[in-house]
Amino acid sequence: MTNNFAIVIMAAGKGTRLKSRRPKVLHEVGGKPLLAHVISAAAHIVPANDIYVIIGHEAEQIRAAVGDAQVQFILQAEQRGTGHAIMCARPQVERLENILVLSGDVPLIRPETIGKLRNFHLAKKASMTILTAEPPDPFGYGRVVRASASSERVRAIVEQKALSHSQQKLREINSGIYVFATKPLFTNIDGLTTNNAHQEFYLTDMAAILVRAKKTVVAIKADDPVEVLGVNTLAELAALDTTLRARKCNELMASGVSIYRPETCVIDAEVEIGPDTIIEPFVQILGRTSIGSDCRVRSYSIINNSQIADNVHIKPGCMIDQANVASSAILGPYSHLRPGSDIGEGAHIGNFVETKKAKLGRGSKANHLTYLGDAEIGPGVNVGAGTITCNYDGAHKHVTIIEEGAFIGSDSTLVAPVRIGKGAYIAAGSTITADVPADSLALGRGRQTVKEGWAKQRRETQAKTKNK
Ligand code: UD1
Ligand code: CA
Repeated sequence: MTNNFAIVIMAAGKGTRLKSRRPKVLHEVGGKPLLAHVISAAAHIVPANDIYVIIGHEAEQIRAAVGDAQVQFILQAEQRGTGHAIMCARPQVERLENILVLSGDVPLIRPETIGKLRNFHLAKKASMTILTAEPPDPFGYGRVVRASASSERVRAIVEQKALSHSQQKLREINSGIYVFATKPLFTNIDGLTTNNAHQEFYLTDMAAILVRAKKTVVAIKADDPVEVLGVNTLAELAALDTTLRARKCNELMASGVSIYRPETCVIDAEVEIGPDTIIEPFVQILGRTSIGSDCRVRSYSIINNSQIADNVHIKPGCMIDQANVASSAILGPYSHLRPGSDIGEGAHIGNFVETKKAKLGRGSKANHLTYLGDAEIGPGVNVGAGTITCNYDGAHKHVTIIEEGAFIGSDSTLVAPVRIGKGAYIAAGSTITADVPADSLALGRGRQTVKEGWAKQRRETQAKTKNK
């Protein structure tokens, strides 16, 4: 589109029907705020600085949540209806030829459909073009009154509460998405009144006003009504979320990812997964996670903002957050990879092992009941069951370094800062407080003493006292 076209997104409303303190457009579907979906669809059509978001209710919160998108904001301090929202945008957009209006609570709209709407509007040289749909249940939406059943011309939009008896049969709904030629829009916008059920300025009334001014008002129907579903209640939000998740799973399956029982999986919109990876039931893959090919993610694992390479096996019940996992690694069951975990190629992290800011070299293993925090672990290291890096002294965090090929015996505590040299051995049950040179053995525990006959003697003494 040229500089003469901008997109305006209405997002100032409170969302009273959600009964939530959070502003409606920040409620999430598909792991992303409603408004963020709309902004990313809009950003496919015009550059971000030609997108104007109208905010009002909890404006600062909304600005902060979607500020990264580099869009422009317009303040509608008092929310007096959708028509009033566009009046507030007038100073910024009046100089442009056309504006495309989107609703912040209609998140599934696809850029292709927006493009089609724009082209139709331009081809018809219309003053107002309305995107419509015929969902199975039109209740609650504004209804589109066409000049005649087969006409592309529109006479009016009538809100649910104002429908006459005969208009209740109308099935074609207003999506809340329009294109306006700005000149006729702003020449006539002062014709809006608040003479309606909500005492608000309805943008929908522009249809009849423009028709009265002998302007062209047309409508084009979306192929898939799902795209224009709005969110006014939490139940509608859940239904939309289900739709989006199903859409995402279908896309992934179409690209060669196997998902068993996809209806139980929660996969965010931006997740990428390579072909021949298998996702088992009840898995969540969130944020900007990417997973390579030939992986298996078993049930009840939750992966957030992480990079998983090819051929990785994630056994059941793993929590993986902001971690990097190299190819052919094996995780779980029940591993907890916290932010900054960097698991090398072919490494193993086993059950009840927690890692944080820990780098594990190629082929290293920590298979059981272990905490590795602020650790740099080289390749080929074996970390025995129950090993703990004591990284925190109550005030500061310290680093544990374990060099290539070292062997950490079970139940060792490594008190950081400490370095275990290449190829060194730590005897089981040691508390290591000083650096261990390469190729040496460190024992940091009391020497074992054995008292022969002690147990037998004790039993005999006990037996005597009992008989008395
Ligand atoms: C609106 C339409 C209805 C349409 C439906 C589609 C009107 C009068 N009705 O109804 O015909 O079928 O959308 O989903 O427009 N907003 C503002 N400022 C305001 C009021 C609202 O920015 O003062 C924003 C809201 O944040 C929301 C959008 O405009 O994102 C739509 O408002 P909403 O109150 O949800 O309108 P509906 O009743 O759904
Ligand atoms: Ca709505």
